[in-house]
Amino acid sequence: MEATKTHIFRINRENFEIMIKAAARIIKDGGTVAFPTETVYGLGADALNPAAVMKIFRAKARPADNPLIAHVASRRQICEIAEEVPACAFDLMDAFMPGPLTLILKRKVVVPDVTTGGLDTVAVRMPDHPVALGLIRVSGTPIAAPSANRSGKPSPTTAAHVAADLTGRIDAIIDGGQVRIGVESTVLDLTSPTPTILRPGGIGIEDIRGCVDKVKDAGGARGAGDMGAMRAMGDPGDVASAGISVAKSPGMKYTHYAPETPMILVEGTPDSVTTSISRAIAEYHKKGSRVGLMMTKETAEQVSGDENLILCARNDPGAYAHNLFGSMRYLDSLNVDVIIADGSIQSTGVGAAVLNRLRKAAGHQ
Ligand code: TXA
Ligand code: MG
Repeated sequence: MEATKTHIFRINRENFEIMIKAAARIIKDGGTVAFPTETVYGLGADALNPAAVMKIFRAKARPADNPLIAHVASRRQICEIAEEVPACAFDLMDAFMPGPLTLILKRKVVVPDVTTGGLDTVAVRMPDHPVALGLIRVSGTPIAAPSANRSGKPSPTTAAHVAADLTGRIDAIIDGGQVRIGVESTVLDLTSPTPTILRPGGIGIEDIRGCVDKVKDAGGARGAGDMGAMRAMGDPGDVASAGISVAKSPGMKYTHYAPETPMILVEGTPDSVTTSISRAIAEYHKKGSRVGLMMTKETAEQVSGDENLILCARNDPGAYAHNLFGSMRYLDSLNVDVIIADGSIQSTGVGAAVLNRLRKAAGHQ
């Protein structure tokens, strides 16, 4: 790919309008702009311009059959790109838009094949972030945007993460600071007979159940998600003898959200998790390996590795989400030999999304 100059727009209250105008100009001209949303940073281009959308796939090295989410700033815009919008979609919009919910709907023909990966459906989401909404409004078009990471890397939660992955490959980055939520939106398919969660995310499945009569979970909330049910035990050794499930890296096939360092996830009751983590640390130390830990503060009171990151309290999955991807990137930068992640968090609400991302990062093999 030919190198492009990547402009950085450091946006603040004073320069907001000028920065949005400059970035929107790039979108209208068919360029690519990374921007903050409430979930993660997105890499945007005009969703209705096939040549512009192709640039996203090239910049990320993303497989062409993986469809993009069209980001909108109004319901009118949803109805411009989606057909046969069911009544429950409007209830969901009332409850969760703007917010971290993506709806899969029948597409209209204005949406090009590159955007939808050739599917007859389109994913729509209204982000709850003033920069994202401003950019969409001023650009005057829906903006296709996957997470602004290189394909396979953890999603970016700061402009620095975007710059590390995509400098020289995209036209601009709007730096709006660290994002609020830290994991991606919940993807809900409204085109199947029963609404189906394809990916757990910022909105808990319990909240969606409160709004739609019947909701199916495609497995994502339990961890398989858009990869299919690929959960296996790997080679957990004596860690498994504690009777808990351990997913082990390196994941050869599935590299979603993965740090470069091999990662293992330890799940189970709080006690079994602490026991297993300390045993695993001892094993790694015997081999001379350096261990990085991503932990809850309760676990950190019992164990310690060579690098220790405390992300949250067990009953606060929101804080785990907020720190998740940044912690993976940070531990990668410290050159540890293995990352052990503490899976002893509450699995409700955004906790389901956190566990899903951890399982994927740990490889599932
Ligand atoms: O929070 C988010 O959703 C972030 C921010 C930037 O909005 N975006 C994001 O995009 O996570 P991406 O491309 O990394 O993930 C979109 C997910 C993918 O799993 C994709 O396969 C699925 O949504 N998706 C998109 N369009 C779809 C469609 N028509 N049918 C089924 N799944 C679809
Ligand atoms: Mg992504």
